[in-house]
Amino acid sequence: MPKARRIGHATFETPDLEREIDHWVNVVGLVLAGRDGKRAYLATKVGQLVVELHEGSQSHCTGLSFEISPNADYKDVVKEIGAHGLTPALANDTAPGLPDALVFEDPKGTKLQLFREWRFLGDHHTVPGVGPMKLGHVAFVTPEVHKVTKFYEDVLGFKVSDWIGDYFSFMRCGADHHTVNFVKGGRTQLAHIAFEAKDMSHILSACDLLGQKNVDIEWGPVRHGPGHNVAVYHRDPDGNTIEFYIDLDQMVDEDLGYFQPRPWHRDLPQRPKVWPPETSQIWGMKKPVAA
Ligand SMILES: [Fe+2]
Repeated sequence: MPKARRIGHATFETPDLEREIDHWVNVVGLVLAGRDGKRAYLATKVGQLVVELHEGSQSHCTGLSFEISPNADYKDVVKEIGAHGLTPALANDTAPGLPDALVFEDPKGTKLQLFREWRFLGDHHTVPGVGPMKLGHVAFVTPEVHKVTKFYEDVLGFKVSDWIGDYFSFMRCGADHHTVNFVKGGRTQLAHIAFEAKDMSHILSACDLLGQKNVDIEWGPVRHGPGHNVAVYHRDPDGNTIEFYIDLDQMVDEDLGYFQPRPWHRDLPQRPKVWPPETSQIWGMKKPVAA
């Protein structure tokens, strides 16, 4: 099966492109790396494309891209994905720095792009916003958590890191504890998009920046149970929830099967497991109902 190795970028539709660009640049601290009519492309300060914005009628997350092996043969990948009843199409220049990608949809209708080649969009920018290090994970609400989780296992090679109960899965495609998560809910929508910060002082300065810009902190700082990341959440003007986090659990050796031991783990070794309900945080405020 094609093994996703890294998340590339997330695509959002927005009814107000300029307002969203302003937030992603001046609050989140991404760099506007390209404009193409009603599309905008945003990169981290080290030049990785992480967000694509399309002006449209509503605000929602429409797509994700994942990097696969640079040695992958697209013909083989098409065959492997085709075995699941899908018909991926090869597309060229779908975004700056992406010469080609295989495009298809997951069961909840999110457009997926698998790419094997990419280039940096500039480097070492100074940014006015938070300036995260990388895109870490994207979480979705979906009525069909088990079906979508199985799709990411079977078609893209993800592994389940943890469940909360039978309604919230956390999946990895590399050392990071989770790169996609799926939580059961009434209709498919973004739960949040998460960016890695450098350290706790970066989280603190992110909170100060949100405060200075009168952007409400919706939840956190908090230390989660599954993944054990310290996280803080706010919303962009469209209502998309954005997380900054540090300290996410790492599984550096799949054969060993446990996450790197850390002082805050209650299980030693910490292995993938099913967490009981209401274990969203080890410490910190409980999740507000609206978050
Ligand atoms: Fe998260």
